[in-house]
Amino acid sequence: MAGTAAGKGLSRGLIIDVAHVTEQAAIAAARLRGRGDKKGADGVAVDAMRQALADIDIAGTVVIGEGEMDEAPMLYIGEKVGTGNGPAVDIAVDPLEGTTICAKAMPNALAVLAISEAGGLLHAPDMYMDKIAIGPGYPEGVVDLDATPAENLSNLAKAKGVPITEITACILDRDRHRDLIAAVRAAGASVQLIPDGDIAGVIWATEPGETGIDIYLGSGGAPEGVLAAAALRSSGGQIQGRLLPADDAERARAESMGIKDINHKFSLSELASKDVIFAATGVTGGSLLDGVRFSNGVAHTHTLIMHSGSRVTRRIRATIPLA
Ligand code: FBP
Repeated sequence: MAGTAAGKGLSRGLIIDVAHVTEQAAIAAARLRGRGDKKGADGVAVDAMRQALADIDIAGTVVIGEGEMDEAPMLYIGEKVGTGNGPAVDIAVDPLEGTTICAKAMPNALAVLAISEAGGLLHAPDMYMDKIAIGPGYPEGVVDLDATPAENLSNLAKAKGVPITEITACILDRDRHRDLIAAVRAAGASVQLIPDGDIAGVIWATEPGETGIDIYLGSGGAPEGVLAAAALRSSGGQIQGRLLPADDAERARAESMGIKDINHKFSLSELASKDVIFAATGVTGGSLLDGVRFSNGVAHTHTLIMHSGSRVTRRIRATIPLA
């Protein structure tokens, strides 16, 4: 039986189970790549993920999902998933991260899931979160959400031993980031804009040698912030996040989910506090993962799996018969 023994972390047996779940979601979404139907693609990914989760020997609770029970019929927050014959675990899902990029068949749409020991993932409400993330190997606190972009870039460049002109920040291409982008460029650093998909944006910052990205900056979904933190718990690196409620209703929602201080700056160990497995399968091809390829009755998938307990990162290629 896959799972946890109290205090011992997640069983490695869960790794393949978790990969199966994101593979199935990615295959389903990939059938609707480029069809201009982001809701449809998201819907089939949710359905496939839920069906795959049902077979795993866990007593899972969805803590980050598709919404509240009354707004999401499947994978809603609080939904119990798995056979129930296994350890109590928290589940965070993003069955299709980058719905618009999947609908447009653009790069880097992913099916994403994290599974942690119970109580190991922040119950983040569905609102924006301000985020800053860097990869491993830097002194703790070298960048900080409360510092200016110029201070952060200067400190990061010094720690890396390069001039600021050799630092690249990844930022979502949004009007709300106009001042941030200007500040990063004014400091002398370069900006790589992405159309969507900030979980990948944060993960890229953990491998600057491969990706050319040193830091992730800006606001995106809070659930995506928790999922990215789950990945960083394995890869190393630093992330901070602060909720950005748009109005009183969002503030009340955060409070009802147990957030006591809405201005709190969450650290990596608060976003993802216990042993966790993070999995992402490519839906469309990109620099993080290849997309699903269909041929002769099979699907070829490419999955990134990270386990914080063992600090092992795997990239798994699977050939999966289609039903
Ligand atoms: P969806 O998959 O829900 O479309 O989210 C994609 C995404 O780009 C996330 O990666 C990011 O956190 C969020 O949207 C940013 O939100 P917005 O598009 O409102 O700026």
